[in-house]
Amino acid sequence: MENDCAYIATNSTRGYLRDNDPAMPQDAPLHMVDLKGQYAHIQEDIDQAVLNVIRSGAFIQGPAVKDFTESLSKWLGAHEEDPIHVVPCANGTDALQAAFMALGLQPGDEVITPSFTYIATVEVIQLLRLTPVMVDVDPHTFTMDPQSVEAAITPRTKAILPVHLYGQCADMTALNGLAKKHDLYVVEDTAQAIGSTWKMASEDATGSMAGTMGTIGTTSFFPSKNLGAYGDGGACFTRDAALAERLRMICNHGSRKRYEHEIIGMNSRLDSIQAAILGVKLPHLHGYNAARRSAADRYDVLFEDEALVATPVRHPRSHHVFHQYTLVLGSVGDGAERRDAVAAHLSQSGIPFGIYYPKPIHKQGAFMGLGLDHPDLPVTDDLTRRVISLPMHTELTDAHTLRIAETVREALIS
Ligand SMILES: Cc1ncc(COP(=O)(O)O)c(C=O)c1O
Repeated sequence: MENDCAYIATNSTRGYLRDNDPAMPQDAPLHMVDLKGQYAHIQEDIDQAVLNVIRSGAFIQGPAVKDFTESLSKWLGAHEEDPIHVVPCANGTDALQAAFMALGLQPGDEVITPSFTYIATVEVIQLLRLTPVMVDVDPHTFTMDPQSVEAAITPRTKAILPVHLYGQCADMTALNGLAKKHDLYVVEDTAQAIGSTWKMASEDATGSMAGTMGTIGTTSFFPSKNLGAYGDGGACFTRDAALAERLRMICNHGSRKRYEHEIIGMNSRLDSIQAAILGVKLPHLHGYNAARRSAADRYDVLFEDEALVATPVRHPRSHHVFHQYTLVLGSVGDGAERRDAVAAHLSQSGIPFGIYYPKPIHKQGAFMGLGLDHPDLPVTDDLTRRVISLPMHTELTDAHTLRIAETVREALIS
């Protein structure tokens, strides 16, 4: 990861667009995520990989799945003495579900998680009749606040579920410390942060990969994710061989031998075509993440002197891979109107944006009337009114970021 720039340089013939690249005229429409542009650079390899699967007829559990999971395990830093088991599945939501099934939690067991996340994180807890206990996030990094976690621990707490939101790791030093002290499992939701790292100690030279620090890590290969398939996909990571075996069974109807079903499972498999596509994209992932970081650097500079805009804070211990580039507008209490104004002006100017997330999970209808007793989550409530995410992908040029930042600034001064 320290070699991001070198990676871009050595791969310059294969893309990650820069200005003056003839493949991307500067007046081209802007995208929140540019999957077509990214595909153009790897088209030959992708087409061949897909064709190989079709010709092989091995659509389910084929060699492409095995090859990809082995490559991903190495990419995450596994080696012989310290294996990281990668168990593929159908999507990131299933990965979370399989993780909690594998841990054998019982109805009523409490799982502490943020409310400022995508619905999938909390949905699976409720689906398994576990009790979600939603806590607040840090106002700067937007990830789970360890102090709120500590305050929420009860004798019924069995697991902590941090979300590495927008591409940056939650404070895994503090969270793993709490888990150790209170004998809890840690399931890391890495759907938005594959390739992000966290330095367990500040003096660590390199960090650990997101998803490899807790009991189980889960990820999503949804197309817009940093490592995205051309359909759905997901995976669990664990260093525990017995848990990996259980996860594999759960994802395959609780079975390890055909027509023998030892435990209740699911039908959740990564299909071979998606695995083949992911296998082509994986060697580019450091480069893709570097391209996102470089776009984020450019945005940071463009918003440097803008008092009404807080740019994303990069925690010194985490390597941020910018799944999203998310601004916080205005100040506490007055941000909502500013965000509406910026959103309206971006829409009028043909610039896409996202609001992740406009409503906290603890206020969603699905979680009402369940007898969950939610404390106030002031930071979460405030962020849902003030955040706005700008286009972020591997094909963003300097001209794009400039146009986007200028449009945001126009809205703030008008
Ligand atoms: C934080 C988080 N967790 C879980 C998921 C679920 O992943 P999937 O859409 O692959 O089921 C997502 C997807 O957006 C996510 O952002």
